[in-house]
Amino acid sequence: MRIFLDTANIDEIRQGVRWGVVHGITTNPSLVAKEGANFRDRVLEICDIVDGPVSAEVTATDAEGMIEQGEDIRTWHPNVVVKIPTIPEGLTAIKALTDRPDPVTINATLIFSPNQGLLAALAGATYVSPFLGRLDDISHDGMAVVSDLAQIFRVQGIRSNILAASLRAPLHVVRAAKCGAHVVTLPFAVLEQMMKHPLTDIGLERFLADWEASQAEAILQRV
Ligand code: E4P
Repeated sequence: MRIFLDTANIDEIRQGVRWGVVHGITTNPSLVAKEGANFRDRVLEICDIVDGPVSAEVTATDAEGMIEQGEDIRTWHPNVVVKIPTIPEGLTAIKALTDRPDPVTINATLIFSPNQGLLAALAGATYVSPFLGRLDDISHDGMAVVSDLAQIFRVQGIRSNILAASLRAPLHVVRAAKCGAHVVTLPFAVLEQMMKHPLTDIGLERFLADWEASQAEAILQRV
């Protein structure tokens, strides 16, 4: 399984890459708008930092517009993945952009049901992104979509990657991994929370205190 960061913030991306566990980035129009950066410039800046897939989303809502934007976005950098919303026009665009000798890598976004994920995969998406947290927000079981998609893809031999998105907490990561998600995309805060355990901090503090005490003792014995 791979971990992507769901952010357009350069400091967060640098830190995640420095820790050695971030293999890609997902952005969306809201995340880029929050940074106040030029879209193309920010995506290229991210591609300079991360050696892995970087999703950049189209903003057109008709198939022709999505295809045009997708064709442009794919030329920005070899690692750029074109993110397309899973609506009927989006499926047409996914099919057109992937069913060609030089297929565009697609991340089908805004998936809230197994059927949407199945359709996106059949249209040719490399990544299908179920939004767990937003389903949980409205009292639905977001993880069930990941679990259903994992089973469907396994039974049917579908090779698209399940990219569990809209994660809100470390336990989402554990459950998505157990369900068979190929990728999880996380806000930076969730990545930080994944590493935290009070017993690790207490344990390290005690190891270091014992070490310091033994060093002091050794010095005293020498004098
Ligand atoms: C994924 O590609 C999306 O950008 C993202 O995970 C949405 O998450 P949110 O529901 O926290 O906005």
